[in-house]
Parts: sequence; C-alpha cells; structure tokens
Amino acid sequence: MFKKLPNDFIFGGATAAYQAEGATKEGGKGAVAWDEFLEKQGRFSPDPASDFYNKFADDIELCEKFGVNGIRISIAWTRIFPTGTGEVNTEGVDYYHRIFEECKKRNVTPFVTLHHFDTPKTLFDNGDFLNRDTVSAFVDYAEFCFKEFSEVRYWATFNEIYPVATNQYLLGVFPPSIKFDFTKIIQCLHNMMLAHAMTVNLFKDNEYPGEIGVVHSLETKYPNSDSKEDKRACFLEDALSIRFLLDATYLGYYSEETMEAIDYICKNNNATYEFRDEDFEVMKKASNRNDYLGINHYQCHFVKAYDGESMIHHNGTGDKGSSVYRVKGIGERVYKEGLPRTDWDWLIYPEGMYDILMRIKSDYPNYNKIYITENGMGYKDEFDNGVIMDKQRIDYIKVYLEAISDAIADGVEVKGYFLWSLMDLFSWTNGYNKRYGLFYVDFETQIRYPKESAYWYKRVSETKTII
Ligand code: BG6
Repeated sequence: MFKKLPNDFIFGGATAAYQAEGATKEGGKGAVAWDEFLEKQGRFSPDPASDFYNKFADDIELCEKFGVNGIRISIAWTRIFPTGTGEVNTEGVDYYHRIFEECKKRNVTPFVTLHHFDTPKTLFDNGDFLNRDTVSAFVDYAEFCFKEFSEVRYWATFNEIYPVATNQYLLGVFPPSIKFDFTKIIQCLHNMMLAHAMTVNLFKDNEYPGEIGVVHSLETKYPNSDSKEDKRACFLEDALSIRFLLDATYLGYYSEETMEAIDYICKNNNATYEFRDEDFEVMKKASNRNDYLGINHYQCHFVKAYDGESMIHHNGTGDKGSSVYRVKGIGERVYKEGLPRTDWDWLIYPEGMYDILMRIKSDYPNYNKIYITENGMGYKDEFDNGVIMDKQRIDYIKVYLEAISDAIADGVEVKGYFLWSLMDLFSWTNGYNKRYGLFYVDFETQIRYPKESAYWYKRVSETKTII
C-alpha cells in the first residue's frame, strides 16, 4: 500500500539567493562576507551559480510543468540595502517583484526567507549578529520588505540559526572562520532569536498580511548506547542544537533543563553569555505569534561521550568517511553500523524526521503548523546524454516523505515539503559537485535537464501518493 499526503499539501522546491542567483556584483548588489572569503579561498566562485538572476522565469515555468507548486527563495539583503541600511537599491526591489509576478502567473506559491547566510559585509565586519546593531538593522530591513512586497504571503525570518552560529564559530567553515568559540556561538544563537522575535512582533503588531515563521535545522540526536555517559552527551548536543532554539521560539525563554546544559557546556569551554531581561519580554510576546515552523532536516546524529580535546574535520569533498566531530564537554558524533550514509557522511535515517515532528507536537503544543523547508540528497550525479538516473535520490525522498506521512497520520500538522533543491545550485562549502536538484544544471551553458527524480516528483505531486 502506497502512503498518501493531504490534497492541499505543498510539493515545493527550495533555493537560496546566494546559491542560485549568481550575479553577485550586478544590479547594484552590495557585498557580503562570502564574496571575499570565497575569493581568498580560491576553491570555487559563487558566480554564475544557477544564474537564477536571469533564468528565474524558466525555473518557475519548470515548477509549473513538474507539479512543483511552491518555491522557497530568499531575498538577498544587499540587493535591497547594499550596505545593510540606508539607501534602497530599486533595481534589487524590482528584481524580486518580477519573481513574485512570475510565481503568480505560474501558480507557484513563493515562501520567502529574509536571511539565508548572507549578512551584508558592512554589518558582518562589525560583528554580524554578535553586535546588537545588526539585530536592529535586520528588523528595519524586514519592515521594508513587509511593506514593499505585499504580494508575499509566507515569510521566514532566518534560515538555520544553529548552522550560522556553528559554521561561523565552531567548525570555522563559514566566514569569519573562527573555531571552538562557545561565547560567540551562544550569543549568536540568542541574538538571532531575539531578532526573530522582534520581527514577528513587528509583523503582528502592524497586521501585515500573510504568515511568518522561522526555519530551524533540526537534526535529531540519539545516544550511541544506553550508557549514562552517552545519554548525557546526547542530551547536551540536543540542548545546544535543538532545544535552545525551540525554547526560544515557543516558550520565549530557556527552560531550566536547557540552561543546565548550556551552563555546563560554557563551563567546559570557558564561555560566557549575555541575555538581558528585556530580551525575554520580547521573546515571550512573540512565542505565541509564530504562524508556522520551517524545519530543515537531512540527517541525524548518534552521539557518544567524549572527554578529549575538540577536533573537527568537515567533509566538504564527498570523501566518504572523512568527517570527524568531537567536541570537548559535549560529545562525539559516530557512524552507526548498518545505517546508510551519503558520500558526505550524512546518515540516512528517516525515523529522525518522524521523531522530530512527534517531539515538537508533544513538547511545544503551541507550535501551529510545520513546513519541511529543506530535505534532500547531495550526490555527484552522472550526466549521460541528457539523462540523469538518480534512483538513490528518489529512494531518499520517498522514505522521508513516508516518515512525514506517518507523522501526519499521528496528528502532526505538516502542510508542505520543499525539496532541497529545485535545481542544482552552488553549495557553500562544497561548490558545484554536490548536486541536489530535481533539474540538472549545466553550469557552463545554464541549460536545465529534468532528472529522473523530477518525473517521479511530478507523479507524487499529482497523485499525492508516495509511489
Ligand atoms: C542547508 C542550507 O543547511 O543545507 C543550504 O540551508 C545548504 O543552504 C543545504 O546548501 C545543503 O548543504 P550542503 O553543505 O550540502 O550544500
């Protein structure tokens, strides 16, 4: 028996401005820290990416043709305000209006994220979200967008606050490439959640039309064994990466259990934080005003106790088995015998999707509804005369959609799914050889070729049946 999804379910495709648009120096766009970072690194360029700057109409037409009835995009803050604040760049504003117009023409609902890893360089150089001036600048930028783009119905403040904090200040794979700085990690998480809450309050107080939420990366954690030590390590990883953000979103404060873990992690890593009483007033007010939660979920982690020095190796090449993740005072992520994983060592374990959905329903009953805003499989696809047989991607999406269908049957309000990614795009730490798209992009000619998965996804979307 095939599993089903509801009739009004959104079958979307996800993108992000910096990963899709290219044209990083065109149309009056201002700089982001990534421009310089990638240039210095010299591994790959963000241009032309998938040239969504020029090809958006073709991509939205492909959505219509292939049953993709939602598209997740982000607005590049520096196309609107090139230096983060001040003068508006009308060319950038027009560009996004043209995208929304095209979406309307093709009956594809846009879900719009305001920040997807691309803080303006001017603000970034002054401390990014560690500096509370960036928090206020973000709220002003959001307000401009709410007023200007009244055709948008679904807004998300941030994409993946936890990966922003940890890729910037733990793994050091995002600029400013700092490693193991827990003071910065925790302050960044808190300040971004504060910015989210301020934006939600602004949106609701002014009764802007539509819905607002935040997109969290929630990668379910499991203890590697039943030992007390492994369970504790799992609890600590979970508290930092999941519970801290969900508490902030839905409680408006951090529960005692969460703070016990955060304080323990801080003690082990010589870290401090500054949370102000007035922050919690704002967060508390926002905690019942989120219209939806966006969840990005690709993988889960099995966690083992670890007491040694912190050591991390990020697999940014697809060399299977090269990942190392051991963090002092938290734990070590380990592969699990018998569980499949991608070439980038991402564990394929759809129970993780089901479990995180059920947990939100039970732990945060004021959650409203959920969209899966990212899920998908990165792979070095083989291009054979215009045919791309990506059976492994179909198998991956299928088991994850089934897990979502099970969670819906068990009472979780999941309203849609956005496959990462709509078309192949630029990956922040992997460049162009880790492909996720339904549509293969020849990055030289910018021609799109539907993969086998695109035809399969179309059938699923049309029949609401996970075949
Ligand atoms: C998510 C991000 O974390 O994962 C995307 O929102 C990102 O921007 C995606 O591209 C896949 O990650 P990666 O490293 O495989 O490109």
